[in-house]
Amino acid sequence: MMKIHVRKGELSGFATEAAVAAHFEGETALGGAAEKLNRQGKGILAELIAAGDFTGRWKETAVLYPKGGMLARRIIAVGLGKRDAFTADRLRCAFAAAAQKVRSLNLRSFATAADFADSRLPADRAAEAVVEGAILGLYRFCRYKTRDLEAHQEVGACSLLHSDGSSYAAVKRASRAAAVIAEAACFARDIVSTPGNEMTPARLAAQARESAVLGSVACRVIGPPQMKRMGMNALLAVGSGSCHPPQLILLTYQGGKKAEPPLALVGKGLTFDSGGISLKPADKMEQMKSDMAGGAAVIAAIRAAALLKLPVNILGVVPAAENLPGGNAYRPGDIIKSFSGQTIEIISTDAEGRLILADALTYAARRRPAAIIDLATLTGACVVALGEEMIGMMGKDAALKEKVASAAGRTAEMVWELPLGEAYDELIKGEAADYKNTGGRWGGASTAAAFLEKFTDGLPWVHLDIAGPAWRSSDRPYIPKGASGVGVRLLVDLLRAWSDQTDS
Ligand code: BES
Ligand code: MN
Ligand code: ZN
Repeated sequence: MMKIHVRKGELSGFATEAAVAAHFEGETALGGAAEKLNRQGKGILAELIAAGDFTGRWKETAVLYPKGGMLARRIIAVGLGKRDAFTADRLRCAFAAAAQKVRSLNLRSFATAADFADSRLPADRAAEAVVEGAILGLYRFCRYKTRDLEAHQEVGACSLLHSDGSSYAAVKRASRAAAVIAEAACFARDIVSTPGNEMTPARLAAQARESAVLGSVACRVIGPPQMKRMGMNALLAVGSGSCHPPQLILLTYQGGKKAEPPLALVGKGLTFDSGGISLKPADKMEQMKSDMAGGAAVIAAIRAAALLKLPVNILGVVPAAENLPGGNAYRPGDIIKSFSGQTIEIISTDAEGRLILADALTYAARRRPAAIIDLATLTGACVVALGEEMIGMMGKDAALKEKVASAAGRTAEMVWELPLGEAYDELIKGEAADYKNTGGRWGGASTAAAFLEKFTDGLPWVHLDIAGPAWRSSDRPYIPKGASGVGVRLLVDLLRAWSDQTDS
């Protein structure tokens, strides 16, 4: 993972393989570090712009080779786009592009500064976006590559220069936090990318345990014998067709006051979803290794919260199972008594996520948390509705939804609300049992949420359907194709805001 070094001083005063200098589109005046580099290089950047070879278009890059007088071997200019349109997210994207340029030149390190003159972003916010963009944008999953290793050399270090003494401490703090959070998102991406033959429920539990050791997080894993004693039959049923037994992963982080009820984070952890007896079509089935993206996000977010020592209490609950059509598999028509005592008739074994979540939500609810947030790659219907760009948000607690929505805005992990309500409850009413596990073809995201709600015991709860954004079918500026780690930054932002609010 790339190391971030925050250093006091001018970018132009730092010897580096590449100095990355940012510029707003269509402006002739250079700002901050870019201006000083330009002066040191006798107008080298101004010349590039005057020649029309670089306009500062968003994510545009250009490489210059100064001839003496400069400590930087190269200058990489990166476009921030129009000043009017400038946001933290556009900055993340621009620095992802710059970092990718550094890597494409086969360089091991670069330096930059986040002092964009006159921008609306304070220095610490800007540094945060720069660090996140660079780390997230450079992510690749190449653990299984054994050939062409030169093409897989990584950029090892980024130096962030900051010359303003009054904001230096804040910039350093923000950069460190941003690195922890971005690395947590990459950790989640690694878990999601790891194939089902390796990332079994037991392996996912081991990942959670290892990750817990880094912070002061307690990790407990419940296996099938205890699940049976407790009556977690929905989770057991989903896992019954696989020889890799289900696991219930529990993480407890106590950063807040002892008596304060925790925020419960629940994440779907299907290490592979074949659909079970209601088998999925073969096309794209390999993508179902990503069906534990919600669980990975919960594990990674708690790790970041612990490393950042956030003053909050968190309960993480990740039900992990593999959905396969083995000889002992559960089947359509089966009736299952869930951990809550409510009974469920199985219509499709492919609607397995809501089953394992039912028991996990019941477990969480019994601990009387202040609120519950669940993340799950739950429905294809949500992908149809919102595509890969948005998380589907469902819930009835306006205050909690508002908190999630503002965290989404700050992190650009966007949410869009989908409905929940009595009309959908009708669709999941059971014949022989209390509920059935599917609500028909239409409104699939909302019927799934209506089902989950039955297991939340009236507590403040928000459901996030991440089926679309969890796995990207093409590159985004700082989300390379594949596992996105979606939810990690959103959750950590929410936890930070949560602690700000409970502090006062
Ligand atoms: N894991 C899938 C949902 C999914 C689909 C995630 C596509 C990511 C991309 C989930 O377990 C599932 O199979 N849902 C079914 C529910 C249906 C049987 C009611 C679906 O969406 O088709
Ligand atoms: Mn399924
Ligand atoms: Zn699934």
